[in-house]
Amino acid sequence: MTDMPKATLLFVDDEESILEVASEYFKAKGYNILTAENGRIAADIIADEKIDCCFTDINMPEMDGLELAEHIRNVDNTIPVIIMTGYPSLDNTIRTLKNGVVDFLIKPVNLNQLEICVQRVLRERQLFIKNIFLTKEVESKQRIEQLNRELTYKVQELNTLNRIMTEFTSIGSSIDLFKHVVDLSTELTHADEASFYVINETIQRPVQVARSIPGGNGSRPPEKLTAGIGGTHGVGCLDISQLILDNCNENKPLLIRENNHLQGLPEVVRSMMLVPLAIRNKVFGVLSVAVFDGDIRFSEKDLYYMSFMTHKAAYAIENIALYENIYENLFATLYAFVKAIEARDPYTEQHSNRVTQIAMALCKAMGGSQEEQDILNVAGQLHDIGKIGIRDDILLKPGRLTDEEFRLIKEHPVIGANIVERLGLWDREKNIIKCHHERYDGKGYPDGLAGEQIPMLGRILSVADVYDAIASDRAYRRKMEEEKILQIMYGGSGSQFDPDVINTFRALYEKGQLKEIIAANPQ
Ligand SMILES: [Fe+2]
Repeated sequence: MTDMPKATLLFVDDEESILEVASEYFKAKGYNILTAENGRIAADIIADEKIDCCFTDINMPEMDGLELAEHIRNVDNTIPVIIMTGYPSLDNTIRTLKNGVVDFLIKPVNLNQLEICVQRVLRERQLFIKNIFLTKEVESKQRIEQLNRELTYKVQELNTLNRIMTEFTSIGSSIDLFKHVVDLSTELTHADEASFYVINETIQRPVQVARSIPGGNGSRPPEKLTAGIGGTHGVGCLDISQLILDNCNENKPLLIRENNHLQGLPEVVRSMMLVPLAIRNKVFGVLSVAVFDGDIRFSEKDLYYMSFMTHKAAYAIENIALYENIYENLFATLYAFVKAIEARDPYTEQHSNRVTQIAMALCKAMGGSQEEQDILNVAGQLHDIGKIGIRDDILLKPGRLTDEEFRLIKEHPVIGANIVERLGLWDREKNIIKCHHERYDGKGYPDGLAGEQIPMLGRILSVADVYDAIASDRAYRRKMEEEKILQIMYGGSGSQFDPDVINTFRALYEKGQLKEIIAANPQ
């Protein structure tokens, strides 16, 4: 025995002579030998020692060989058990096989025969163990692959949901949002067409507002499905408006995996989803996603994505609508104030409008960004809104103002800034309104700011405001002569005005651009 020099064999027999002979023989062959007089002792040994093979008699006191075999099978089924008996019976043989005994030797056992048996059994055991390892390895490999697939799938799903969540938040207008919904629908589900319909209560028909057809210039006609007005006429136009209206009434996502021509779907459609988009439980539109050719059939998963998307889109639309509304309403209200102020003084009508246009032109010519021009658009229109708090007899007084009257007039930039501030929007606009009467040399009001302390857009607005005031008719005087106007404007460079702004003013004035603005917005 050279290949298994350290194998441990356990001999169990109540005949001491057998144990002695076997021990001597196998120890000489390099094996470790353990012996036990009965099954009970053998079981204790097995609990403590590592056994490679067990030979046992059947008939023994306390625990017989078959019970031992069963015990071993329960404790470690890789240990081979060989039964040695002088009285083999069919009954015993069957029981031994049931208990996982691997071989059966008849007493008296020849030592040589025993050794051949040991070698064979140990070889088989090695294979058996190796096999168990291999099976476990394959199983765990398969499990890992399965987990990997699940993980990849989950990551994809998470990415998809995440995309839906994040992409919708950055969209600024409803129509862009509808377009995004249909594009994302075809992309995520590999559909041939996705459309978004708004339900119009007045005409009782869905109106298509966005559509996505990947590879739409291919073999498929672009007018495949329609539900809008006139959707029932024209070659290739398939009306699904009734389905959309039904879906709208049910307010539940609908999945038609396979068109079996019972659901009222046009023949050409193979698979379809209709997903209502509801805002505060009121259906506002329906997303339709369709497959015409190929093997793709929509699944519950697709429906889930689409529902998730319309849900998120509904929130986004609500936000956009709220924001658009608030912003537009607010500006409309404030602008109405300005118009009311200007209407008090017919000579200042259109003043805010012209100042805005001049300021924006100056800003643009000085390299200002679109955002800065937008700020001037609001600040320019609202710069004199504070005059709403000043009495008519002061505001409209022809001739010189008393010191007190002038003090009151000088409050209008602060009053205007306060009005805008209370609305919680337009922080930068507020600051510009507040400083439109500041002077570059620090002698202006309300804060006496100088130079760069005055925001750039404020310095621009101040030039535009003064220019329009002296270049148009006023309550107490006609507009000035051009020479006088330019003397005030150019002469004020570095004292009343920022020299950089005046340089730009000069350039625009010489091009005739500023006179054009004044002429285009008469009193
Ligand atoms: Fe003003």
